[in-house]
Amino acid sequence: MKKIKLKKNIKKLLVIAIILLTLGTFATIKAIDIYKQKQYEKTYEYKLITLGYDKVDALDIIDKYQTKEIDYILNNAVSNVYLDLINEPYFIYDNFYKYIQYHDNKENDVKNIRNTIEIVNTLRDSEYYSLTLKTNIDDEYLMLVNKYYQLDENYVPNNLVTISTQHSWGTLGSQKTIDYVYDAFIEMHNAAKEFGYYLMVSSSYRNYEKQETIYNDYKESRGTKYADSIAARPGYSEHQSGYALDIFEKNNYRQATFHESDVYNWLKDNSYKYGFILRYPSDLEDITGYSFESWHYRYVGKEVAKDVYQKNITFDEYYAYYIK
Ligand code: DAL
Ligand code: ZN
Repeated sequence: MKKIKLKKNIKKLLVIAIILLTLGTFATIKAIDIYKQKQYEKTYEYKLITLGYDKVDALDIIDKYQTKEIDYILNNAVSNVYLDLINEPYFIYDNFYKYIQYHDNKENDVKNIRNTIEIVNTLRDSEYYSLTLKTNIDDEYLMLVNKYYQLDENYVPNNLVTISTQHSWGTLGSQKTIDYVYDAFIEMHNAAKEFGYYLMVSSSYRNYEKQETIYNDYKESRGTKYADSIAARPGYSEHQSGYALDIFEKNNYRQATFHESDVYNWLKDNSYKYGFILRYPSDLEDITGYSFESWHYRYVGKEVAKDVYQKNITFDEYYAYYIK
């Protein structure tokens, strides 16, 4: 009798133990699940999805932004701007807040994200001549001189040489450029000659005073706005750097019509092979600060000239992204 009772009791205990074990397992699994969920809710992925991004976009943001910027994004409404920005080719991380500020300012005539990036990278979110940054002359033939970056009044390039009167207008000694820029020009001159074009330089290195005279003449005759659209203020001209040449053809030297000539087309598409870029292309006045100058070439070396030409961007943008 006792034996049977014992057996029954053991059975009971066993059933209870199994029930408890099962319940325990379920409870543990549940607890783990709750814990996992709590942990997930702490992640950026969860927070971004809760804000309204889909998973792919949330992961893109996490992949490409750092925590400070993700926190900033989380404090704002869901927007494609953050995704579009980071996927633009010339996005500069340090400019993130400037892009957002510029883009969100209703007073700005923002065309698209690319335009915002162009403008901010080239400092166009500040007025021309408002920053007066110093040109980094250590960049040598890659130095940037524009309406933000200025050369000292007494800056004179090293190794200036005289351009012969065969290759330039004016009296002997009036046209000078840096020795290796001259070599590059001669190489280009010889190549152009094969096509029947005789390249000539109409303006080259100009010192501060000369630039001042040119700018003031325009200003006095046509006003500041016009002067600023075609001439640099003293200290802000690439001509003072020694790396700019105004190039025409011996029999074709009218500024107004030069862009209609075959030689202009040849120069535009071949000058990079000799280290030159067309510095102020048409329709990019907003970026370069100058109206189209079909004659103004800037020496940047063969490698960079090819890159600028192929990427089809201004030197101002190129400098911001690749050099600065
Ligand atoms: N014409 C160009 C912009 C200069 O004055 O440097
Ligand atoms: Zn020029």
